[in-house]
Amino acid sequence: MVNDRDEASPWVKTVVVPAAGMGTRFLPATKTVPKELLPVVDTPGIELIAEEAAAVGADRLAIVTAPNKQEVMRHFEAFPDLVETLEARGKQSQSDKVKRAHSLLHPIAVEQEKPLGLGHAVGLAESVLTDEEEFFGVMLPDDIVLPNNAMEQMVAVRNKLGGSVLLAVEVPREQTFNYGVFDIEATEEDGVKKVVGMVEKPEPADAPSNLVATGRYVLDKKIFDALRRITPGKGGELQLTDAIELLIQEGEPVHVVVHEGTRHDLGNPGGYIPANVDFGLRSEVYGPALYTQLKKIIANYEAEKGL
Ligand code: UTP
Repeated sequence: MVNDRDEASPWVKTVVVPAAGMGTRFLPATKTVPKELLPVVDTPGIELIAEEAAAVGADRLAIVTAPNKQEVMRHFEAFPDLVETLEARGKQSQSDKVKRAHSLLHPIAVEQEKPLGLGHAVGLAESVLTDEEEFFGVMLPDDIVLPNNAMEQMVAVRNKLGGSVLLAVEVPREQTFNYGVFDIEATEEDGVKKVVGMVEKPEPADAPSNLVATGRYVLDKKIFDALRRITPGKGGELQLTDAIELLIQEGEPVHVVVHEGTRHDLGNPGGYIPANVDFGLRSEVYGPALYTQLKKIIANYEAEKGL
């Protein structure tokens, strides 16, 4: 397995977080509350992502936001009045929670005026990278990946094999129609596959594998040029996968790391609810009571449905 951090090799500095989407699968909540601020237990998804980016050693978080989603950036401000009030009232642990997002890493706002697609959102981040950065990370705040150090291995693979590295998770073959599915070849590295193509939402019989894309990318800077050369796809949106596909066709190395841990999709209620249950059960404060409650709820449900 490639996972050693070689201090002499370049490391990821900037993580781009596209957060300018419309969140239509979460309406009506997202009429006024950005999807990225919906809490998992008590912490917004965007803060979990900032924690993950800080944990892999990045120091800048480029958050792509929409004009009507300013609250996403506000979450990373210092809130001195709130901190002062909480501390004056002896609420130190709450004060620490308020301060956490502000202290993690340096947030930079990148505005996407219109939701023209994930590819368009990532393309806008070109202006915030420094000349020294040959690659950068992308973390989708919809996707929670545990343990939260998957990108460490992805950067190590980039340093060894070059090009871009994506994260894949295994799903049952009958679910492949929901995802971008990788067409892969084996490599000599344990848990690393070479990507030879990608198929968007194929029928299970046509799926080239059961490894699907999840929201973590280590992208070579060449992606920006590829994004300028693709044309909008479904719904007039610029698709990131089309640009990655173009790089593959042009012979650029693209690999996937196969993720062994858990993945939660916070982008729709069907994934958001189990994520809250999972995090809730593991919470020292809420876990024990939640476990008892859940067992009761399930027992009642089973009795009602005759299961
Ligand atoms: P999604 O397609 O899952 O998010 O994009 P969405 O468009 O907000 O959700 P639905 O489909 O309407 O429910 C994945 C990520 O890319 C961002 C989203 O905010 C999300 O984090 N995104 C998407 C952008 O930043 N800009 C876009 O134009 C589209």
